Amino acid sequence: MLKALANTTSVAMENVRVYSELEQRVKERTAQLERANARLEEANRELESFGHAVSHDLAAPLRSIRGFAQMALKEGETTLNERGRQYLAIVQSSARQMREVMDDLLRLSQVARAEFKKEQVDLSRLAQEIIKQLSAHSPDRIVDVQITEGMEVEADSGLLRIALENLLSNAWKYTAKRASARIEFGKMTQPDGLQVYCVRDNGAGFDMKQAGHLFQPFKRLHRQDEFPGTGIGLTTVQRIIQRHGGWVWAEAQVENGAAFYFTLPQ
Ligand SMILES: Nc1ncnc2c1ncn2[C@@H]1O[C@H](COP(=O)(O)OP(=O)(O)O)[C@@H](O)[C@H]1O
Ligand SMILES: [Mg+2]
Repeated sequence: MLKALANTTSVAMENVRVYSELEQRVKERTAQLERANARLEEANRELESFGHAVSHDLAAPLRSIRGFAQMALKEGETTLNERGRQYLAIVQSSARQMREVMDDLLRLSQVARAEFKKEQVDLSRLAQEIIKQLSAHSPDRIVDVQITEGMEVEADSGLLRIALENLLSNAWKYTAKRASARIEFGKMTQPDGLQVYCVRDNGAGFDMKQAGHLFQPFKRLHRQDEFPGTGIGLTTVQRIIQRHGGWVWAEAQVENGAAFYFTLPQ
């Protein structure tokens, strides 16, 4: 009897030890995660305020570079040789590219700082408007666009417009070399009821081995001369979806299209 009691007690004590060890490990792991999260948030905040400062402080000098290159080209129309004109054209296109990076950085910092306002948003209508703008910019392109009707959510409409602009203009850009380009925007309902939205295209796609870098600022999986860009768009999309408490992820295959999924928990 006594022996049995002693056995039970030692099993119970062993359980307590294992339990408190586990508890300790969970605590340590949580603290580690919290530290990593704080570092990540700090890095994001730095990038955002850096982006804000950079795009403001560089705007004026950049404007003058563009303006004077333009004037030099105009005034030197008869005196400049071919090489001189080429150099100035490169100055202009480099300045244009810099302007795009600055605009994108500024948008990223605005997205992170903007006040968050929830309202009823018609994602289908937003997407249709964006596609209309994209077609107006490149009227020579024929793209088969399918947008599911009536996708309404409670969200910040300004922020979601920026996110959809980025996703749809990527789909538009990366299908540019397709003879019959197709873009779809729709949604699915998961078994647990969560709505998953998806922007899918049949364009250049990418290697899933590199998908881990997709949402990092300035990371690009395509060459500038193949498909121009800044690599800040998807960082902005992620920031917007995170501000809504959702997730964004991608699936793709090289030369076989890409799909970007996101959730907006209600
Ligand atoms: N629809 C897409 N199809 C293929 N690759 C894509 C697509 N969207 C994004 N990517 C890849 O992800 C990278 C990051 O996207 P983004 O941040 O929007 O930058 P950008 O469009 O300026 O290059 C792109 O450079 C491209 O390599
Ligand atoms: Mg982009």
